[in-house]
Amino acid sequence: MKNILVIHYSQSGQLSEILDNLTAPIKLVKDVNITSFTIEMEEEFPFPWTKSDFLDAFPESFLQKPKKIKPIPETILSQKYDLIILGYQVWYLSPSIPINSFLKLPEAKRLLANTPVVTVIGCRNMWVMAQEKLKTLLGECNAKLVGNIVLVDRHINHISVITIVKWMLSGVKKRYLGIFPKPGVSQKDINEAGKFGTVILNQLLSDNLQNLQERLLEKKAVVIKSFLVIVDKRANLFFSKWAKLIDSKGEANSGKRQALLRMFSYYLLFVIWVIAPIAFILFLLTYIPFYGKLKEDKKYYSSINVRNTRTNGRAI
Ligand SMILES: Cc1cc2nc3c(=O)[nH]c(=O)nc-3n(C[C@H](O)[C@H](O)[C@H](O)COP(=O)(O)O)c2cc1C
Repeated sequence: MKNILVIHYSQSGQLSEILDNLTAPIKLVKDVNITSFTIEMEEEFPFPWTKSDFLDAFPESFLQKPKKIKPIPETILSQKYDLIILGYQVWYLSPSIPINSFLKLPEAKRLLANTPVVTVIGCRNMWVMAQEKLKTLLGECNAKLVGNIVLVDRHINHISVITIVKWMLSGVKKRYLGIFPKPGVSQKDINEAGKFGTVILNQLLSDNLQNLQERLLEKKAVVIKSFLVIVDKRANLFFSKWAKLIDSKGEANSGKRQALLRMFSYYLLFVIWVIAPIAFILFLLTYIPFYGKLKEDKKYYSSINVRNTRTNGRAI
């Protein structure tokens, strides 16, 4: 008998649906026992978000400051698991506050110690540096990352920015104005997540988790877009400066914090709509000379390897 624990947090239910579909083929097998744990905050984040709450979550998300979560039940903590499937979403290029808060708990560290972990990400499209931060958090838990599956919005970056903001501020996952595509991960990708569950099941039952990521990559569990990796790395450098400034100068709810957050929001708009298109042209112009480095990065970020570099807000 194999024991699997599925841990996640989801506001809209998108990640819950991904994990339900992913684990469906595993649940059909008698020899595998699946337990689920949903992370709950002591003070829940709003959904739908207001504009100000959405911005206000930036410094603490990026600086990976934990908040209180409800206790993990003893029935979960008292078991040893053969595999943990950890579903998470990205907030401001970092693992979301609920996931970060969970992984920093001493109880979670004990639960994950010496246990293989598969991460399942459901986000817009910018997750590469968040996963580097998650690898660090898993390292601090002494957990062993054996697989990573990433489901993203496949529409072009600027379209997905518009549609996700509408979704987060309305709480409804529908086509904005009837012309934009639906936000978030497509229903097709959500429905087909079971193919990854089958791979996990086969590798687990054959005691071959060390080859899991290779098998998952054959099913396109991770697709790396080089331009998004470059943007993610650069944005981490600038976000780091903004987050530290807002955190150091602006006390909670103070006028100073609100003013700095407003400035940060204008900065974000400028970067997304002015800098990013210019950067994309530069990316295309320099594609050939940088081809080798881009290829190497693609291979690394598709893998579960850990580079020997600190990732706390720094580009690698
Ligand atoms: C405050 C906030 C910040 C976000 N930042 C990012 C981000 O940096 N990169 C990204 O790909 N998605 C980002 N997203 C989208 C989430 O990763 C996720 O797709 C969305 O919140 C739906 O997840 P759910 O399952 O919790 O509803 C952000 C969402 C929120 C609410």
